[in-house]
Amino acid sequence: MSEQTELRISKIKDGTVIDHVPGGQALNVLAILGIDGTGTDVLSIAMNVPSDRLGRKDIVKVEGRELSQSEVDVLSLIAPEATINIVRGYEVVEKHRVERPQQVTGILQCPNQHCITTEDEPVDSQFEVLEEGVRCVYCDTIIREDLASHILG
Ligand code: CTP
Ligand code: ZN
Repeated sequence: MSEQTELRISKIKDGTVIDHVPGGQALNVLAILGIDGTGTDVLSIAMNVPSDRLGRKDIVKVEGRELSQSEVDVLSLIAPEATINIVRGYEVVEKHRVERPQQVTGILQCPNQHCITTEDEPVDSQFEVLEEGVRCVYCDTIIREDLASHILG
């Protein structure tokens, strides 16, 4: 496919392109980044774009910001094939595949209302990553499916 026909959303000048996100997961990626539409982040999103590798993929471009390690860690759980491209001056200056971490800190909320991380204490949530799902290191509650619905609002 030529560059002309392939280009769906504009290139960005500075920021982060999260590419190879499974089709339909872009809005969950935004939730992980804490973007809910009330802020001023400049964003471009493409959803369900044909992809050789994934069949259908989403792409999220966030201008003027890079991702924290904890954001990348949670992202890897919903988009294991994702590539994170750091763009500066219109050029991709860094590209990495996400890696499945052993633990994720913050971002996800423990579903146990009596967990120390959900009470008023200033304790960040922390989950051990399992084959399938994640386990709260404080109260052992396991989140097996739909991680996206446990992202801190
Ligand atoms: N991109 C962008 N703005 C730029 C440069 C790149 O939005 N200034 C986007 C591209 O559109 C693409 C992603 O960043 O979605 C990665 O760019 P690039 O590495 O040039 O593309 P590919 O080689 O196709 O990437 P890959 O091999 O990871 O599929
Ligand atoms: Zn807990």
